[in-house]
Amino acid sequence: MMQKKLDQRRTLATAASSAVALCFCLMLAAVPGYGQGLAGRWVSIGRTLDNGEQQKSILELKQSGNELTGAMKTLGFTVEVKGTATGNHFELFVPEWGQQKPVLVGDLVNGELHAVERGRRNIVAKPATPGDDLPTVSYIEPPPLHNVPYNGLAKTPPMGWNSWNLFAGRIDDQTVRTMADAMVSSGMRDAGYIYVNIDDTWEGVRDAQGNLQSNHKFPDMKALAEYVHSKGLKLGIYSSPGPRTCAGYPASYGHEEQDAKTFAAWGIDYLKYDWCSAGSIYKPASLQPVYQKMGDALQSTGRPIVYSLCEYGMGSVEKWGPEVGGNLWRTTGDIRDEWSSMIANVEKQVPTAPYAGPGHWNDPDMLEIGNGHMTDDEYRTHMSLWALVASPLLAGNDIRTMSDVTKSILMNKEVIAIDQDSLGKQASPVKNGELETWVKPLADGSVAVGVVNLGAVATEATVNARDLQLSGKVKKARDLWAHKDVKFKDGAYAATVPSHGVLLLKVSAK
Ligand code: GLA
Repeated sequence: MMQKKLDQRRTLATAASSAVALCFCLMLAAVPGYGQGLAGRWVSIGRTLDNGEQQKSILELKQSGNELTGAMKTLGFTVEVKGTATGNHFELFVPEWGQQKPVLVGDLVNGELHAVERGRRNIVAKPATPGDDLPTVSYIEPPPLHNVPYNGLAKTPPMGWNSWNLFAGRIDDQTVRTMADAMVSSGMRDAGYIYVNIDDTWEGVRDAQGNLQSNHKFPDMKALAEYVHSKGLKLGIYSSPGPRTCAGYPASYGHEEQDAKTFAAWGIDYLKYDWCSAGSIYKPASLQPVYQKMGDALQSTGRPIVYSLCEYGMGSVEKWGPEVGGNLWRTTGDIRDEWSSMIANVEKQVPTAPYAGPGHWNDPDMLEIGNGHMTDDEYRTHMSLWALVASPLLAGNDIRTMSDVTKSILMNKEVIAIDQDSLGKQASPVKNGELETWVKPLADGSVAVGVVNLGAVATEATVNARDLQLSGKVKKARDLWAHKDVKFKDGAYAATVPSHGVLLLKVSAK
């Protein structure tokens, strides 16, 4: 074991970016004030944990002319920044997260940095004092590799609901209970959505024995699990292999077995394990053993717990996910409730297609259906594509208040059946102009075919039977959104697909 300062490690993650970004309770503030530019060491105070401990972030900046370089640091997380200063105004990017949008934008005001992080969070950072250091973290060598046996779960892609897309940090016990009620009353549970997953921000502090407790938003996790179970549902939870979660809460680093036991004792049925600050501790080559460590820990509890790896597709996770006991793994950065993000995430599935199958699934992230920033056609396309690529179906909207259209999309049983098909094959796309066709072979010898219109105008799409690799001529074809049978004529079926809409058929052969 060796001691290392966190800031000696650099995060690897390219795609991790969006993840970590959300939580990087960045704190800025710079060096002594106005006139000296932005160079210096700035500290901002972020979240206060349940025991009163204040989380600090440090921003270290150098300035040369109007160019800024430096690093942002929180416990367990360090990332390089670059940017520009125009007078007292500054914009900072994290090069490894991509240069499209600045991560921090702000101004030097009376010797403080007043900034907005990722367009969401207001931050004030003051000049750091010599005492403003982040705690050091001991490096723990990851274990040697071995195969973790399959836990027998997730024979079809997991279905449920997750708190993050809609609630982020605003999730609490009462909201989870009312959501569980709504999963039943809306018909979601009976449509197959079984897991109610609490994402980040439930974590409290460790007790004297090192046991992780839930925070004040979740007064009794065991009682909550009992409640969720009493509804015929299962409860999921979230942690990270690093010292902090993406949102800056305590995570499982150095406590993997203990946390797995705690989760099992609470009655947890699903764990999402999010890389986040582990990127500042471990080298990229350690992804597999680090995930294996929690895979082993979960299995040694004896409780069946679905294991969801969340490391944004780094290190070709699809190739080793099953070996660490994983049932699913994220293959992309975070989805946003917008067309381009949804399409980009699903198109990244192409290289991962051969690796999906019963017990182990590629995960292009949770659903945004019903969250309000896509059209109904776009949400139908979202649902269709997630089903075609055999993705986990984790709704991310407010189940308690969803509209009839949202219900008809999330609970389209014919589309769910494509996702849940026991063969577990993942479709890949073929592009023809603005039309993209995805074909998924199904267990009964039929196929699901989806034609997505990526263009801005309605376009006629033709599905040719010869492209479907059927064993004979078309016997039956059904439009899974119109809920009606359709006829192939001379080996083809044509229909108009609206802009960003989809034609989704199930076709079987004679
Ligand atoms: C990362 C993950 C998200 C969510 C947040 C929580 O960004 O990719 O799905 O879990 O962390 O902080």
